[in-house]
Amino acid sequence: MKLLLILVTVVVTVCLQCEAKTFTVCELVHELRKQKFPENEMRDWVCLVEMESTRRTHVTGSPNSDGSKDHGLFQINDRYWCNDSNVPGKECHVTCGQLRSDDISSASTCAKKIHRRHGFSAWYAWRDHCKGKPLLPDISKC
Ligand SMILES: *[C@@H]1O[C@H](CO)[C@@H](O)[C@H](O)[C@H]1NC(C)=O
Repeated sequence: MKLLLILVTVVVTVCLQCEAKTFTVCELVHELRKQKFPENEMRDWVCLVEMESTRRTHVTGSPNSDGSKDHGLFQINDRYWCNDSNVPGKECHVTCGQLRSDDISSASTCAKKIHRRHGFSAWYAWRDHCKGKPLLPDISKC
């Protein structure tokens, strides 16, 4: 019984970690390349992700003033873009959980859609910390 409890604890801990990925800067660049983000936008995307989620896939932001929440690597808002239940929905036809996955393909597709409609200015953190500034972090070694 005690062994079983230990085993369950270990499995749960491992699974929490596998659901809670933090990319290094270069890992992020490689992931974004895999998702076909254009190279000439790469530094803006990396700066955006740095400021929004510090490269963590699983984060849910604290509620915004309208009660909505932001999800995952790109901190995508559940008022318009994802359904915060098990049923995929809204503009990106996804659940917010899919936007918090270690597999960033759904989040990437959704982020590109937001960018096509509104540009980088859709993200306050990009406007406040990346727009017209030296784009950090440095990705020249990646
Ligand atoms: C979101 O999920 C709920 C089920 O929890 C469903 O009733 C609703 O239609 C979904 N919303 C959208 C916009 O798809």
